[in-house]
Amino acid sequence: MDLLELRVARRRQEAADVCSLELVAPDKRLLPAFTPGAHVDVHLRGGLVRSYSLCDAPGEHRRYRIAVLRETASRGGSAAVHALREGDVVAVGAPRNHFELSPDAGHHLLLAGGIGITPLLAMAHWLSRQRASFALHYSARSQDRAAFVGEVRESFGTRAHLYFDEDGPDRRLPLSDVLARCDATTHLYVCGPGAYIEWVLATARAAGWAEARLHREHFAAPVRPSDNTDASAFEVQIASSGLVIRVPPDRSVADMLHASGIDLPLSCEQGICGTCVVRVLEGTPDHRDAFLTPAEWAANDRFTPCCSRARTPRLVLDL
Ligand code: FES
Repeated sequence: MDLLELRVARRRQEAADVCSLELVAPDKRLLPAFTPGAHVDVHLRGGLVRSYSLCDAPGEHRRYRIAVLRETASRGGSAAVHALREGDVVAVGAPRNHFELSPDAGHHLLLAGGIGITPLLAMAHWLSRQRASFALHYSARSQDRAAFVGEVRESFGTRAHLYFDEDGPDRRLPLSDVLARCDATTHLYVCGPGAYIEWVLATARAAGWAEARLHREHFAAPVRPSDNTDASAFEVQIASSGLVIRVPPDRSVADMLHASGIDLPLSCEQGICGTCVVRVLEGTPDHRDAFLTPAEWAANDRFTPCCSRARTPRLVLDL
């Protein structure tokens, strides 16, 4: 896919450790369209590629606006974004969306934890413009660490609910009550830290919400007990050529595919973005990602080679 060379037209400090960037075409060309919840891959120094959600509603063709939290445990991506200055040029992939609004929903319940506000902000702008029924619940540790608070309050009024941990335990998101007030046509969309997402999904499941009504986007991979502590060797076979590649315990499938000259797109390399998803024709994957849903895991016909492994001695991949 062709990359867009975009210029940083504006850089703003949105909150402590959160900056936003407005990326535009240097020749003022209109940018490819996107849908609410979409993200772009930003190609950074040192060959890093990171996915960031677009914050504006679809219909914004002159800029892509992203916001990035500087992670203390950054593997380089967030620090590289924070180092960008107005006038710098970065390569950006065309928008993609793994976090779509459901066309079947009668009401949309948007739940944001911290920097997880970014795709939900785009959704809320879009739903507001469409006069669709929605509510946005935005939780953060403190107001000075929460990006876009002013924009959220001004744009969405009583449909926005903000919760700051610093205000005390009785001011936190009353999730069970919020879920109980929703009818069966409501779809839930959650984005934020892994523990926040797991809490929201577990609470909704316990309250009887069907999996098809739950939508999530991760920013960081949740820690899974199986992560690489029990890794063993297995083989992958490339269906188109018959090539068999051994995957040792300390290497990922993606590593070994690349080492064998097979071009596989990668972005997060943590099982959260879905860039690397490959169809599995034979064998059973050991899913270790946070991208596929439980139903997709159970189907076992796709997996994420950046982090997932195999339960059977060999996987045949549709490559
Ligand atoms: Fe992001 Fe594999 S590269 S899920």
